Amino acid sequence: METTANSLVTVEKSKTSKIDQVDFDNLSFGSTFSDHMLVCDYKNGAWENPKVVPYGPVSLDPSAKIFHYGQSIFEGMKAYKDTEDSTWLFRPLDNHKRLNISAKRLAIPEIPENYFMEGLKTLLKVDEKWIPKNEGSSMYIRPFIFASGNGFHASPANEYKFMICLAPSGAYFSGKVKVLIEEKYSRSANGGVGFAKAGGNYAGQFYPTQLAVEKGYNQVIWTDDNTHEYIEEAGAMNIFVRINDTLITGPTSDRILDGITRKSIIEIAKDENINVEVRKLTVSEVVTAAKDGSLKEMFGAGTAAVISPISGFGYKETDYDLPELKEGFASLLKKRITDIQYNKAEDKFGWRYKL
Ligand code: PLP
Ligand code: COI
Repeated sequence: METTANSLVTVEKSKTSKIDQVDFDNLSFGSTFSDHMLVCDYKNGAWENPKVVPYGPVSLDPSAKIFHYGQSIFEGMKAYKDTEDSTWLFRPLDNHKRLNISAKRLAIPEIPENYFMEGLKTLLKVDEKWIPKNEGSSMYIRPFIFASGNGFHASPANEYKFMICLAPSGAYFSGKVKVLIEEKYSRSANGGVGFAKAGGNYAGQFYPTQLAVEKGYNQVIWTDDNTHEYIEEAGAMNIFVRINDTLITGPTSDRILDGITRKSIIEIAKDENINVEVRKLTVSEVVTAAKDGSLKEMFGAGTAAVISPISGFGYKETDYDLPELKEGFASLLKKRITDIQYNKAEDKFGWRYKL
C-alpha cells in the first residue's frame, strides 16, 4: 500500500482495483462501490485524522450504539463528468450544512467544513476514474456519520465515525413511478426528526412502503401525521404537483427534508416564469384536479431520483392516472438542472463546484 497525504487527509491506496469488473454501461443505483472510502474518527471530544483507505468492512464492538439506539445520519450527493472530462459537484456546501443540521438533532458532534470538503475532494480525486461518463449516470456520493462508541446506556455515544463511500450509479427508478398516498402510517411528526436525514426515518418507511409495493406502487407519498389531509413528501424525494399551469410544492417544516433539488427547482421554475406556489397542498385538491383534468403533472425531486415523473397515484382504493406529457414542466426542469450539473449550460445561480 502506498501512503501519501495532503495537509489534512492521509491517503492509503489499494494495491488492486476492481474497476475492470464494472460494466459502466449497465449501472444500477448504489450497488457498485469504488476502490476507496473516507474514514474519520471522533474520539476524546474531537474529529481526528481523516483518511482515504481501501474500501472494505468496518469493525465495530457489538455494543456500539449505532446498533441499539440508531444514532446515524447521512447525505446524498453526486459528482458529474462533463465532455471535457472535468468533474463537478452540485451545491456541496449545502449538503455539509444539512449533515450538521441532522447531526445536531441526533446529538451527534458536527463535522467541520474542511474535514467534509477536503475528505470528499481527496476521495473523489483518488477514485476519479470511477466517475461514470455515460449520459444519465453519475457518481452517487454517500457521506454518513454513526455512533461507533460502546455501551448499552441509552445516551449519546462518545465515539463516532464519519465516512464517505462512492457508488457509480445509473437511474434510481427504472420505469414509471406510481405512488400511493398514505392514509394510515406516518413518516414523521411535529417536533420529530423528519427534517433530518436520519437512518431511522428510512427504516420506519420500509414496512408501509412494502405494503404499497405489494399493491403495485413504487413509493408512498407521506401525508401529515395529524390529519393525513396534506401531501408532504415521498420516501426519497420532495413532491411537486402541477395544477393547470401552476407548480405547487409543500413548505418545508420539521417533518419534511429541505431538499437541495427542491429548492433548486423552485428557483429554476421562477427563472422560467412558471407560477410557483410554496404552500400546503391537500390530498382532496389533488384528487379533484385529477378528476376534472386540471392535474397536469406530478413529479418527485431528489439527488438520487433527479426529477422523476409520477405516472399515477392511488388513494382510498382508487387509481388516478396522469397524462404522459413529453414537454411538460418535469422534462423542462430536469433538462435545466442536469444541464447545470453536467456543465452543459451556463450556471447563473453559482451552484456548480469544480473538483
Ligand atoms: N426527501 C427525502 C425523504 C429524501 O430522502 C431526499 C433525498 O435526499 C429528498 C427529499 C430530496 O433531497 P435532495 O434533493 O437534497 O437530495
Ligand atoms: C438522495 O436522493 O440522495 C437520497 O438520499 C435518497 C436515498 C434514500 C436513496
